[in-house]
Amino acid sequence: MKPVFLIGYMGCGKTTLGEPLARHMGLQFVDLDDYIERKYSMSAKEIFNTLGEPAFRRIESEALAKVATDARNVVVACGGGTPLVPANMELMNRMGITVWLQASVERIVSRLVLPEQRAKRPLLSGMTDEEIAQQVTRGLEVRRPHYEKAQLRFDSSHLESEQEIEQSAQQLAQILDGHTGG
Ligand code: S3P
Repeated sequence: MKPVFLIGYMGCGKTTLGEPLARHMGLQFVDLDDYIERKYSMSAKEIFNTLGEPAFRRIESEALAKVATDARNVVVACGGGTPLVPANMELMNRMGITVWLQASVERIVSRLVLPEQRAKRPLLSGMTDEEIAQQVTRGLEVRRPHYEKAQLRFDSSHLESEQEIEQSAQQLAQILDGHTGG
């Protein structure tokens, strides 16, 4: 099976949904940020802070190209900014199935203001809840044209309990089975 790429804004549930989705479909799961962090022995936040965002984007594009060419039976949780590089989106659409996980601004903000969530995200560093809400509103608008290039969309608003996560993973697995004729 072609790789499945989950894309969307920070906090839309790419990792939360990606793991059980891969399990339901009998596929491997790769989180692109984790892949980069293992390879460089640095957190995404450390890479942002020491090497800068452009360097992180280069590293991210390289990691994506490697994962996309090496792995077949895999669900990839991308970083929220991965689709901003047009070549990345083209690569994902050519090599695999792209799914934009969509949740409302309010839902995304409610997830990102949690201390353990904001702590690992360099783009939210030092922000108040109000500033995070503004950042998500603006960021989603700016990124929408990139996310819209995904082949499929899935409502990821309901990931607030284990049961909701399981249900959403099952639903998305069914959609993907139908899409690939599996
Ligand atoms: C980023 C999202 C993060 C991570 C980095 C940059 C972004 O991934 O790649 O902090 O630009 O939206 P998540 O979407 O998993 O938070």
